Amino acid sequence: MVIHPIERTTTPSAKPVGPVGFGRFFTDHLYLAEHDAQRGWHGDRIVPRHTMPMDLAAGVLHYGLSIFEGMKAHRGVDGKLRIFRPDAHARRFAQSAARLCMPEVDQARFLESIRALVHHDADWYPEAQGGALYIRPLVLATEPFLGVRASSEHLYAVMLSPVASYFAGKDQGGLKLWLEREHTRAAKGGLGSAKTGANYAASLLAARRAQAQGYDQVLWMDANEHRWIEEAGTMNVFVRIGDRVITPPLGGSILAGVTRDSCLTLLRSWGVPVEERPLSIDELAAAESRGELQEIWGTGTAAVMTPVDRLGWENGHIDTKSREMSSRLRVALEDIFAGRATDTRGWMMGVEHETAPSPTPPAPSRGGASASI
Ligand code: COI
Repeated sequence: MVIHPIERTTTPSAKPVGPVGFGRFFTDHLYLAEHDAQRGWHGDRIVPRHTMPMDLAAGVLHYGLSIFEGMKAHRGVDGKLRIFRPDAHARRFAQSAARLCMPEVDQARFLESIRALVHHDADWYPEAQGGALYIRPLVLATEPFLGVRASSEHLYAVMLSPVASYFAGKDQGGLKLWLEREHTRAAKGGLGSAKTGANYAASLLAARRAQAQGYDQVLWMDANEHRWIEEAGTMNVFVRIGDRVITPPLGGSILAGVTRDSCLTLLRSWGVPVEERPLSIDELAAAESRGELQEIWGTGTAAVMTPVDRLGWENGHIDTKSREMSSRLRVALEDIFAGRATDTRGWMMGVEHETAPSPTPPAPSRGGASASI
């Protein structure tokens, strides 16, 4: 695979000053490639960020034919940038592609595209405490065709965003979740385990209604009985009852979070009893009335580890104040991100090596360097 050209913008944007929030700023460059049946993936390039012309008949615009990922690059205490578990994200991206009948981006292309773009835009890293360079790869169906079938043309793009906390002020302060009993995020057999726009579109009205009640997000229940806990807003959810940590099992409707998996791995390595099993809202309420409900938290790439302070519904609420386990997990992960803890599992991928010049670069169309893997 050759990346050509690797262009640098001649009109760099001003970098944000002050708090960056989440997803409001974008770096100066994009990684792009196209796919069709004849050529497969081709045209890999890094170019200045620009708006994309797209035929209004493209499948992404009508039928939600899109998948995406979210990862972070972190600055280590040695000053180097590293990406957290990109191979796990590559695997999930491929699974999402298969579910939506899209071409898979092979792991080598995925890893090199994000590595090369982060390297190219490294000067956008937000140096404030808690900052990261958020990496957003996506595949869009671009064939202009109104019939409902898999698209024959796709675009692969990667963009970067300097970010801080997803829930401003809540990563230490605690989130309020509304128990959502009417809407569901996803049903078994549907798209819930794929990282696709539809799941996020389905969540908006419930989130808006929760916010109108003074809550931050919703706690999603299963689609059949509205009884089994599934996710917390855009995050996976963990509950500590007594000395046991429980998280719902991946059954098709829940996204297989990389942070979720990392927490399970850390908890097991610490000898904490962990259960991946169905957890009903009745069991949660019973644990609370026995005084055994210790804490609830959400996990995700964007939110990392967000403690939940309150779970509310029409005529009641449960408050949890402990943050013992979620704080321990957050610190452990942040130590791995920053290289303060040894990366014994090979979770961090370095980005700093220079891209090699291509031995056989294609004829330059707009100038710029090239690289190959
Ligand atoms: C993430 O945690 O990376 C997500 O995808 C959640 C949201 C920003 C869509």
